[in-house]
Order: sequence, then C-alpha cells, then structure tokens
Amino acid sequence: MACLGVFDSGLGGLTVVREIQRLLPSLPLIYIGDSLHAPYGSRSEDEICQLSLAQAEFLLAQGCTALVIACNTATAAAAKTLREHFPLVPIIGMEPAVKPAAAATKSGIVGVLATVGTLQSARFAALLDRFAAEITVLTRSCPGWVEAVEAGAFETPETVSLLQREVEPLLAAGADTLVLGCTHFPALRPTLQALVGPEVTLIDTGVAVACRVAEQVAASREDAGSLTLFTSGTPTVFSHSARAILGVEWLPMALPLVWKDGRLENA
Ligand code: DGL
Repeated sequence: MACLGVFDSGLGGLTVVREIQRLLPSLPLIYIGDSLHAPYGSRSEDEICQLSLAQAEFLLAQGCTALVIACNTATAAAAKTLREHFPLVPIIGMEPAVKPAAAATKSGIVGVLATVGTLQSARFAALLDRFAAEITVLTRSCPGWVEAVEAGAFETPETVSLLQREVEPLLAAGADTLVLGCTHFPALRPTLQALVGPEVTLIDTGVAVACRVAEQVAASREDAGSLTLFTSGTPTVFSHSARAILGVEWLPMALPLVWKDGRLENA
C-alpha cells in the first residue's frame, strides 16, 4: 500500500499537502511539521540536514513508501544527503518557481520571496544560472513571514505591514511576477494578492510538486485517503492553523512528537 510522507519546518508544507490531496484524494499521507525548530531558514545547512534526516527516518518507520520534502530550505540543504541515505525511496523536493516565472513575466523583472537559507544556497544559484539568464531576479528574504504563518496570523495588520515592507520595493523596481519560494508563503497568498493587486502574478510550486508525486507514487485501489499530522510544536495551535491552511472545518488533532538525542519519537 502506498503512503506518502511529507515534512517541513512547520505548517508551510501543508500548502503542498493541499495540492497533493486535490490531485490524489485517495493517497494516504503522513505529515510532520517540526514547528519546534521553525524557522529553518536561518539555521545552518548541517543542522537542517540532521533535522531532515530524523524526520525522514520517522516517516519511513511509519511505513511511508515515498517522501516529499515540502520545504525549499530543507530541499536546498538536505535533498542530496537524504537521497544518498535512502537510495531506494522516491524523494521529491522543491525549489522556487524561477522557470515558470521567467516564462510568465512581461516586464522581465521577477521577485523571489524565500528564506535566507534558500537564497544563499548553491542550488538556488544553479537555478538562476539555468533559468534566469534573460530576466532580472530580485530577491527578498522576508523576515517574520514564517513566524506569522506559524502563529496563524495570516491577515493581521502586523502581517500586512511585514508583507508590505518586502513587496513594495519589488513592485517599485518593476517586478510583475513574484515567486513564493517558501512553502509557508502560499498561506499568505490572499493577503499578498490583495496587497499587490490583480496585475501581479504570484507563483508557487505546490501544484508542480503534486504532479511529480502523481508520476512517482500510485495510490492502490483500496486506499481511502487519510491525513495523519504530527508536530513537534503545540498540537492545538498546529491543528488550528492546519485547518485554516487546508480549508477544512475538521481534522484529527495533530499527534505530539518529541526530539530525543537527535531523533523524533512519539510523545
Ligand atoms: N517552509 C520552508 C521553505 O519552504 C521553510 C521555512 C522556514 O522554516 O524558514 O523554505
């Protein structure tokens, strides 16, 4: 039986889960949000590798047959290591949607919103080399955005000012396309779109990742679709925001996880 394991530094990866569930409603999913360690964006590559390995190990021990690293930062830091550790497991990562943005922009100026970890990674530099030769890419590391999503503050006045501070310089510079290069950011999409107006295109990678999953993981006939949530944060807070991001009225309460000697265990 297929079972997909998905993980992120917290709630952000649920924006990817939302798209996977839309495309593959019967695929059983197990999700870990490591909210205890969010944000990952300012942590070292080494630390993100250790945290990602532990999450992958926990998901595989639960019976997952494939993994999605639903985090741009963790993909940049740890995808290669995870694939070396688990060569037989399909592992799908994600990267900022620079290629579709380069195709979509009319002004030739694209803003990429992502974490410091993603923007400073060799993987991102390679992505720009491959797809951004003909356009101008402006980047913003968006301090406070991940924390706002983790707090469930999707549209408070404080969040609006945080968003404004980052996008205004991009719009002033002529950007007509903004890449949401962190999986937390699509949770802010309605607020962001209202701020930048309908002429500015916002692009994320959730649907593309869901399509990759569909290519690599086949749900069996007997699968009925389920979502089990685990968090190293506070289950009530996590579950509340998870419902908002997934757009559902009810979800089973997230199960608590604890970190012990660098490994994840049921609390
Ligand atoms: N959601 C993650 C990403 O896509 C990481 C955010 C963070 O924890 O800094 O980059």
